[in-house]
Amino acid sequence: MSTRPRVVVTRRWPAAVERVLYEEFDTVLNEHDEPMSRAALEAAMCSADALCITVSDSMDAALLDIVDAKVRLLANFGVGFNHIDLAAAARCGIVVTNTPGVLTECTADLAMTLLLMTARRTGEGERELREGGWTGWRPTHLVGTKVTGKTLGIVGAGRIGLALAHRAKFGFDMKILLAGRSGGAAPAKEFLHSLDAEYCALEDLLKRSDFVSLHCPSSDQTHHLIDAAAFELMPQHAILLNTARGDIVDEAALLAALQCGAIGGAGLDVYEAEPQVPEQLQRLPNVVLLPHLGSSSQETRHAMGMCAVANLRAFFAGETPPDIVQNSRQEH
Ligand code: DGY
Repeated sequence: MSTRPRVVVTRRWPAAVERVLYEEFDTVLNEHDEPMSRAALEAAMCSADALCITVSDSMDAALLDIVDAKVRLLANFGVGFNHIDLAAAARCGIVVTNTPGVLTECTADLAMTLLLMTARRTGEGERELREGGWTGWRPTHLVGTKVTGKTLGIVGAGRIGLALAHRAKFGFDMKILLAGRSGGAAPAKEFLHSLDAEYCALEDLLKRSDFVSLHCPSSDQTHHLIDAAAFELMPQHAILLNTARGDIVDEAALLAALQCGAIGGAGLDVYEAEPQVPEQLQRLPNVVLLPHLGSSSQETRHAMGMCAVANLRAFFAGETPPDIVQNSRQEH
């Protein structure tokens, strides 16, 4: 019998990271990469010392409180941890870690991708071309919105929000408005100054922005932060972008706002009930829909895996893991 800690990995991870896991731990992989059933997760809770989970594993109190649980560490592959009941984990003495920092750049890149795609109608153009509907160049064809010089409102002044601000300011000369958590610290004055950015209240940001991009964590405080009232504040041409978490936006209110033309469009990478994406949303041409790709580059996914490995190593060496999640929410 192995004396190495038993680690159950709920989804496939980059091959190079899986090799490291195999070398260092008694590793059980989910070979077929299907989401693990509740029963399989319960069994893993009782057989493993650590569970390597992702956003698609819902680690609720009932699962964490399981009577014969052996798991002492949840090493999450991802920065967001809204799928984990942190209070229950703390109660059960289970340590939770995540992978912050390494996905900042790629997630900010994807938010910029969505911004450009939505503004310049590139999704519509690509669909038209592939469907054989392109009849040639003409001055009035798929005319979008200019991005350079416009105002971008960023909700959530954490790492990813600030990386997007940097891209938008220096790549596209955009005016940057930032709104953080109520009670959260504002970014340093020098930082705001270097971007010529303004830190303001959410209402103010919503009224003044041509684009609104969400970068706050999902929490009780941010659930449906962007609701029908928020859409009423936004200018009719404004575009909403979400690469954070689906439940920050009231999806039904978003659909209604898009259908009645209260806002100009949306670019989404995350949804309230992933992987379900409402049919009616899929029918709207002015919406760009991506399948939760924020951190999805080879480099970043490898780095995320190695962050999780570093957390496992430290934990089983009796040290404090580098990315321990305190029972508090961080900017996403
Ligand atoms: C993250 O890191 O939070 C990504 O959204 C995947 O969970």
